Amino acid sequence: MPQDTAWENEYKRPQLVTKDAKPQKDVLRFLKFLRKNANIDLENLNVLDLGSGTGRNANYLAERGNSAVGLEISATAVELAKSRAREMGLKVDYRLQSIGEKFPFDDGAFDIALDVTSSNSLNEKERDVYLSETHRVLKSGGYFFVKALCKDGDKNAKALIKNNPGPERDTYINKDMNLVERVFARQDFVDFYSKYFEVFSLEKKTNYTRFKGQSYKRNFWLAYLKRK
Ligand SMILES: C[S@@+](CC[C@H](N)C(=O)[O-])C[C@H]1O[C@@H](n2cnc3c(N)ncnc32)[C@H](O)[C@@H]1O
Repeated sequence: MPQDTAWENEYKRPQLVTKDAKPQKDVLRFLKFLRKNANIDLENLNVLDLGSGTGRNANYLAERGNSAVGLEISATAVELAKSRAREMGLKVDYRLQSIGEKFPFDDGAFDIALDVTSSNSLNEKERDVYLSETHRVLKSGGYFFVKALCKDGDKNAKALIKNNPGPERDTYINKDMNLVERVFARQDFVDFYSKYFEVFSLEKKTNYTRFKGQSYKRNFWLAYLKRK
């Protein structure tokens, strides 16, 4: 099944994805870091949310006086994000578009980009486009927050790669969603993002996901990146 169909089906009958309207906690921590450590006033910024889902992070940033754009592959998620923005009296530019294809924006159009567990399901070719495009549309010195699936110390990820291998390196088929996902070992993550970004903070975090009454432990990378 194509990856976009898998995501669309997930939003129509959610099993794993959240429809929570509150901003993601790791995003809030990143924004606090920008305020305190990078002296960035979180107002009047242009923010790009990659894989914006139902808009919890982009709407939060728009509510605080920033101009937000969300790219998202699921039409159901885009519609929900738009209606939530409308209810909140916000103007947020949500577009149905893959983050693995060229972005329809000018060079240096954004101050900040977010990828909150969205690029895991890109294939390698798309992932290269996603990275070079994010670099192109960010201003020099712009910041990029990435939360991505981590392979290191994640027994579930290793079992999935062994039992349901995907077509590319460190991928597996998530059979519940019919989705191929990529996990990153630390060095692979650093090598990939360092092509275009300075990785100035990289932290491993464990989250527990509940699915069909069971709790699954998964590891994530939380990366603070700065455009080179
Ligand atoms: C785990 S959800 C996270 C959503 C959102 N970032 C959040 O924090 O609520 C991953 C999101 O990425 C989107 N996505 C996956 N592949 C994508 C692609 N190629 N282009 C755009 N969005 C994509 C999915 O539809 C989904 O909304």
